[in-house]
Amino acid sequence: MFAPHRPLTAHPAAALSGSVRVPGDKSISHRALMFAALAIGQTSIEGLLEGEDVLRTAAAMRALGAHIVCEAGVWRVQGVGIGGLAEPEDVLDMGNSGTAARLLAGILATHPIFSVMTGDASLRRRPMRRVTEPLSACGAMFHTRAGGRLPMSIEGARDPLPIDHRLQVASAQVKSALLLAGLNARGTTRIEEPAATRDHTENMLAHFGADIRVEPAGAGRMITLAGQPELRAADITVPGDPSSAAFLQVAAILIPDSHITVQGIGLNPLRTGLMLTLREMGATLIVTNERIEGGEPVGDCVASFGALSAVDVPAERAPSMIDEYPILAVACAHARGTSRLRGLAELRVKESDRLEGTAALLAANGVAVTIAGDDLLIRGTGAVPEGGGMVSTHMDHRLAMSALVLGSSASRPVRVDDTAFIDTSFPGFVPLMNSLGCQLA
Ligand code: S3P
Repeated sequence: MFAPHRPLTAHPAAALSGSVRVPGDKSISHRALMFAALAIGQTSIEGLLEGEDVLRTAAAMRALGAHIVCEAGVWRVQGVGIGGLAEPEDVLDMGNSGTAARLLAGILATHPIFSVMTGDASLRRRPMRRVTEPLSACGAMFHTRAGGRLPMSIEGARDPLPIDHRLQVASAQVKSALLLAGLNARGTTRIEEPAATRDHTENMLAHFGADIRVEPAGAGRMITLAGQPELRAADITVPGDPSSAAFLQVAAILIPDSHITVQGIGLNPLRTGLMLTLREMGATLIVTNERIEGGEPVGDCVASFGALSAVDVPAERAPSMIDEYPILAVACAHARGTSRLRGLAELRVKESDRLEGTAALLAANGVAVTIAGDDLLIRGTGAVPEGGGMVSTHMDHRLAMSALVLGSSASRPVRVDDTAFIDTSFPGFVPLMNSLGCQLA
């Protein structure tokens, strides 16, 4: 699907300015298509992210029998009702998307159909046991390649049992897979998470009329879902993705005299760890026009240039900014002092080994960086990083965008081996950055 190897160079940029929107939230977009496909009636979705990852989810839900069309930017989904999906004729290819693969595994686990799922070379390296093991408790049978990798076959349970499970890792994907499975199980599904992770699944299930309860449990939460509700179609407006806005915000903070407004960004408190961290470093981020859209908090955010100091980010904050560490690391390279980003084991199983990839990205551009166990240490001098390096992105969109922001804010250009995967989450990133004043060519 991708043009192989789209290399690009980020040249140092002068002041960036503009007021823009970013594409819709990736997490919410996947869920909107999946829940709408399981509801009765027609759901309209505005602001859906039309990135490769979400298009894979749309294709999979169509292959399973939902009717999905896009007219003038509005997506309309005719759902089949819980338990109503049909056996797909072919292998379900989830491309680069871990979220699509894992959430869909949950849905398929409690449909009495046979399916086979695969993905691209990056997704085929990622661990699936974190969902297949707990999902097996409902009666589904999964067969994977060695190490719990894709491709895998799924034989959904005929008479699914509800699952009662405490998550081993703080993962919204695993939590969501189990809740999605619980939709078609008779009885009550109970999931305990050791730390609160993004709650878009819970919010959206409530929006579609499910009987779901979320209560504090220690440092985390207990989620209780009544099985076999009737989900009723409910329109959705998808907010701008804070994980995409992050690249624009950090670029504005790092490049002298810049001011960028991003309108309509999702401000769900379980997603705003990066904004909190940047403010701790001394950044100016001003949020205005806060409002609720489609059940999620949204606002406009102005990010402006300013000097940064080093930061020590506690491991407990990771779930609220799990996708933002590569771009935070670029900010830390500009800051004065040594930053320590703690507890990043989960970064090793993202689209690439993001812990190694982030360290390599900085090291190739003259930044002193060390991995100590699961922590990343970045020595900033308060001066502009040297740049001049070549970055390998390993099929990872967030490494590619982080490297382009580094090059835009460094002394010398940064070359990136392949930017094709940016289309998974942020189609139009390169022209948008150039319209703000970047020189990506
Ligand atoms: C996501 C959850 C996160 C995140 C991913 C999207 C989701 O993964 O990294 O990009 O939509 O649930 P984990 O839950 O596995 O940490």
